[in-house]
Amino acid sequence: MCGAGTMWRFSKLRLLCRAPRCMGRVAYGGKVRGPQLLTTPIFYVNAAPHLGHVYSALMADVRHRHAALCGRDSRLSTGTDEHGIKVQQAATAVNLDPSDFCTTVSQQFRTMFDTMAISYTDFVRTTEFRHAQAVCHFWKKLEEKGYIYKGTYQGWYCTSDEAFLSEDQTVESRDAENKKIRVSADSGHQVHWMSEENYMFRLSQLRPKLLDWLQTEPIHPAPFLRIVRQWLEDELPDLSVSRQRNRVSWGIPVPSDPSHTIYVWLDALINYLTVAGYPDQNLAPWGPSTHLLGKDILRFHAIYWPAFLLAADLPPPKKLLVHSHWTSNGVKMSKSLQNVVDPTECIKQYTRDGLRYFLLRHGSPERDCDFTHHTVRKLLNSELADALGGLLNRCTARTINPGQCWPYYQCKSVPSAAHDELQRLLGAVKELTRQVDQYMERFQANKALEAIDSCVRCSNAFFQSQAPWKLFKGGEEDKAWGQSVLYLTLESLRLYATLLQPAVPGLAKTILDRLGVPDVYRTLKGNHFFAATLGEKCYFQGQTLGSECGLLYQRLEVDKE
Ligand code: ME8
Ligand code: MG
Repeated sequence: MCGAGTMWRFSKLRLLCRAPRCMGRVAYGGKVRGPQLLTTPIFYVNAAPHLGHVYSALMADVRHRHAALCGRDSRLSTGTDEHGIKVQQAATAVNLDPSDFCTTVSQQFRTMFDTMAISYTDFVRTTEFRHAQAVCHFWKKLEEKGYIYKGTYQGWYCTSDEAFLSEDQTVESRDAENKKIRVSADSGHQVHWMSEENYMFRLSQLRPKLLDWLQTEPIHPAPFLRIVRQWLEDELPDLSVSRQRNRVSWGIPVPSDPSHTIYVWLDALINYLTVAGYPDQNLAPWGPSTHLLGKDILRFHAIYWPAFLLAADLPPPKKLLVHSHWTSNGVKMSKSLQNVVDPTECIKQYTRDGLRYFLLRHGSPERDCDFTHHTVRKLLNSELADALGGLLNRCTARTINPGQCWPYYQCKSVPSAAHDELQRLLGAVKELTRQVDQYMERFQANKALEAIDSCVRCSNAFFQSQAPWKLFKGGEEDKAWGQSVLYLTLESLRLYATLLQPAVPGLAKTILDRLGVPDVYRTLKGNHFFAATLGEKCYFQGQTLGSECGLLYQRLEVDKE
């Protein structure tokens, strides 16, 4: 099917896409947006990746894939954060040279992301030479601009978060032996008092510029923007940006003073410049633009990072997309708390695409989500096995479609009794592409998938109520309407599978292969759906389906709870 005629069909497709939009035609109607460099946080290599890390990478991946599907230039970077006291201690604990330790764990992250089909275009390690070059260059820029001075830092340090904290960012708590300790109010991790001569960064001077930047509303969803505005109501203290090398040796030395190591967060944040080619001046159009992150590291990205960039005369980030946390029994999943869910185990149980679907569909940027196997099983059964798998089975099964082909739609065949329901279905699918695009732009993959699922259910209900298997036993008019119902069902499934590609690339491919959809018809750019309902030529009518694929998604056993 994809043979010699493909080129002709492709140019025809492009011509069609220039034609004026008219009622009923469903095409990609999104704004043409500029190129984007999308980044995930770079993850500490103190322990193996867990579900939370996979979620961040996945949220970035689905946005990146969706942009590509709409014909937009997009790049996606991820990687590992390998310096600092926390990693130094983790390596010592297992008697490994920090460099070997980092290579091993960094590779675990890469393998995990490959297994999860995260389509990153760059994977950066802060121990790479290109990164050290970028950091040194950036440090010198900060010095040149007068933002670095030597001072004495006195205050709390949280090794687990690699964060300097003020008194009011800490609270009293008790350790396992009931001894009084101080912990970070945010993360609950223990803090220690330190007093050290460090290089300091004039963060206090940048508050007005940060407030200007916030005017552009760069932080999504909105509640996180409000939190940052609140933080900026108070004066900002200057920030320590180095540690004495005799205490932290695993890191990049201050270029002008090798007795100091650059603070790991300054080092880490600069990865976003490294992947953009910094200090090469020809960054455009790939200057850092959109950073995706968990809410635990909002302060570093929404205050320190734009402040560093502004101090170095570089543009602050265009967008910060912030998501909430996965919890286990209500407690944030974290390496240090050892309450993490192992993604490898989940992939074994649910398949890669099953896990991808669940995380994207159930996770939410705005609120924390608890992970339970019961919820996963119920959701995957209902939406992948029953609704989507059922729809695929309905319109391709030999019993209903013995010719294994796309039938012709006949406008005149619509019985008046079916008119309203048909209009409802067409109304819903016509809006779907635009809705999905808007949700993706607003960082709401969960809502995009909800919208698709709701349309899948609409199509199932339409098929059920029109009952084409009965129509095929009737007279000519009934038969014609039966063919039309089958066409509409196949066409709606083609739309859903096209839109589902960023979330579940494997399952979407299975459906598109089964429907016999050529590659050129798998994008959103210039792809039209339901053309035949407008009396226009539709490439698919009369085409044969692809070969049989068996069950789309095997139902999972659910414990009674
Ligand atoms: O903070 N739920 O690295 P990190 C959802 N190296 N997402 C979670 C999560 C959870 N329970 N736990 C972790 C660091 N994450 C620094 C970042 S960036 C310049 C440096 C995700 O290994 C989430 O994205 O502690 C969070 O922000 C990130 O992992 C923290 O990973
Ligand atoms: Mg962390």
